[in-house]
Amino acid sequence: MRPLIPDYLHEVLAAVAPKTSGEIASYIPELATADPERLGAVFATVDGEVYGAGDVDVEFIIQSISKPFVYALALSDRGFGPLLDKVGVEPSGEAFNEISLERDTGRPRNPMINAGAITAHSLAGPEGLRAEERMERIVQGLSAFAGRRLEVDARVCASEMENAHRNLAIAHMLRNYGILSEDPRGVVDGYIRQCALLVSTRDLAMMAATLANRGVNPLSNEQVVDQAVVRQVLSVMATCGMYDAAGDWATQIGIPAKSGVAGGLIGALPGQLGIASFSPRLDAHGNSVRGVSLFERFSSDMGLHVM
Ligand code: DON
Repeated sequence: MRPLIPDYLHEVLAAVAPKTSGEIASYIPELATADPERLGAVFATVDGEVYGAGDVDVEFIIQSISKPFVYALALSDRGFGPLLDKVGVEPSGEAFNEISLERDTGRPRNPMINAGAITAHSLAGPEGLRAEERMERIVQGLSAFAGRRLEVDARVCASEMENAHRNLAIAHMLRNYGILSEDPRGVVDGYIRQCALLVSTRDLAMMAATLANRGVNPLSNEQVVDQAVVRQVLSVMATCGMYDAAGDWATQIGIPAKSGVAGGLIGALPGQLGIASFSPRLDAHGNSVRGVSLFERFSSDMGLHVM
């Protein structure tokens, strides 16, 4: 990692470190054991330069940050038409775990809320894959975005599955409307495994940089998904990535982004860089408190607002 920007990154991290408001997610018991003081930030440019400060290599659970990447794989594997038939692209204005289905069709409003992400999970890989094969497609795809093989945390997975009543209810609604065509429990099980992938802040910055670099991982040079897919994914991140805080985020920070309940946050600036941060305490929307502060500073200090 280059020691150029780190002076700036260290300063910004020190400025947000005293913020201790927010709560660690506890609806998944295993997540509540995380160290709330962890703090890290990484910039990864489209030329493959990586700059970081703080806990850049500490691993945590990707959670909802898996959603844009699995949506990208599903678009890539099935095509835009079949995806749009089953998952919309409108902001729901509601929390990530609301049912948020269109009234008549039962189509989830967007792929960033749980309902849309559970559906996108079911559409990753070619039609007819068994659950294990679909999971392998997802692990392989997200690993290609990151540039290294990612692994599932089995303990978090078991802990989330035991407390998955809300996601199971959503999946049963989706099955009722024919949006899911298979056993809801199996799909939720796969979705929870997807959300339990372990990543570091450095991995997330590389994943975001792959989006910023039009689908090509800047270090491995692998074209993971094509440009049209990236455009679709970044558009949905810009409008729906921060859930019911998406409007505040768009106006104040203006970077296509996605958060996760373990405290990760990514932003992708097309043609420039991927940014990632990690700090576990969350605000009422489920977004990292210090992460949002970091991105506010990055955006205003460097003029990164793209809208
Ligand atoms: O389905 C869930 O509730 C979790 N697996 C993911 C939620 C999440 O990360 C929401 N993001 N802020």
